[in-house]
Amino acid sequence: MEAVVSRGLWKVYGSGVVALKGVSFNVERGRLVALLGRNGAGKTTWVRVASTQLLPTRGTVEVLGLDVVSEPWMIRELIAMVPQEGFPLEMLTPFEYVYSYLMVRGYGRSEARGRAREYLGLLELEPYADTMIDELSGGLKRRVMVAAVMASGAEVLFLDEPTTGLDPVARRGVWSALKKAKGAGGTIILTTHYMDEAESLADDVVVIHEGRVVFSGSMSQVREGLKGKVRVEVYGDVDPSGYECLKVGGATIFYVEGGEAEEVAGRAIKRGFEVAVKPASLEDLFMRVVGGGIEEGD
Ligand SMILES: Nc1ncnc2c1ncn2[C@@H]1O[C@H](COP(=O)(O)OP(=O)(O)OP(=O)(O)O)[C@@H](O)[C@H]1O
Ligand SMILES: [Mg+2]
Repeated sequence: MEAVVSRGLWKVYGSGVVALKGVSFNVERGRLVALLGRNGAGKTTWVRVASTQLLPTRGTVEVLGLDVVSEPWMIRELIAMVPQEGFPLEMLTPFEYVYSYLMVRGYGRSEARGRAREYLGLLELEPYADTMIDELSGGLKRRVMVAAVMASGAEVLFLDEPTTGLDPVARRGVWSALKKAKGAGGTIILTTHYMDEAESLADDVVVIHEGRVVFSGSMSQVREGLKGKVRVEVYGDVDPSGYECLKVGGATIFYVEGGEAEEVAGRAIKRGFEVAVKPASLEDLFMRVVGGGIEEGD
């Protein structure tokens, strides 16, 4: 069964900006979907519509079979979300914040207490559990918010860049909380700019570009599509000489079959360029679908 169904979703802001231009994709129950796209692609707009904070201009989104426009209150009981710019109330401690968040959502005292401790632990916030939130660093504040939302046990979780600004260790704490929530049967929609994060967590990937879905598929389809492909990154502007390449930030990136990598890299090295050769990854799929400027060699 589908947890979220987005059909031909358009969003035009009052300013006239068209943020979504007919976005359609499905999220199956129990899956973790990484929603990817460049800055301004429309990810947050989509998340805000799907989590009933913003009305769509046209098209529909159903969450657990409920319509975001006609049944928002029923949806709100079943979802939880971390907004992109969200921080917790500062006049509480992390424990008080997560505990009261869970009480509001209907947990009894002892379960709320237990879950609050557990998720504060998963996000390595125990040492700060009883410090006032306004005394914590930005990343710690963000983790408190993530802990509360992850502890909610909501059926569908929307997490808009929950790991942005977190240190590499803390980021992994969020990953383990995400895995736990998924293991408990939750459906998770995660926006992130970290491709390694999407690669290690996601079952499915949706890429939005300029308000439209430009890729949608499972992570295994992504891997299958990239199999045997190699990325040769040349730090300089070189002639494609017959190979497909992408020019990004002064570098020339070639996508070639394994056997061709040596020739492409060798040619660039001979001309004095620095070169990095790696197996192609999700980042490369991303660059290809949103990067523009692919030059087909002839
Ligand atoms: N409240 C608003 N009023 C008017 N335009 C907006 C508003 N919020 C976003 N936009 C515009 O809508 C487009 C999509 O923005 P959105 O925040 O959804 O992108 P995003 O994919 O989340 O980007 P980022 O990765 O930077 O968070 C952008 O052009 C943005 O300027
Ligand atoms: Mg955003």
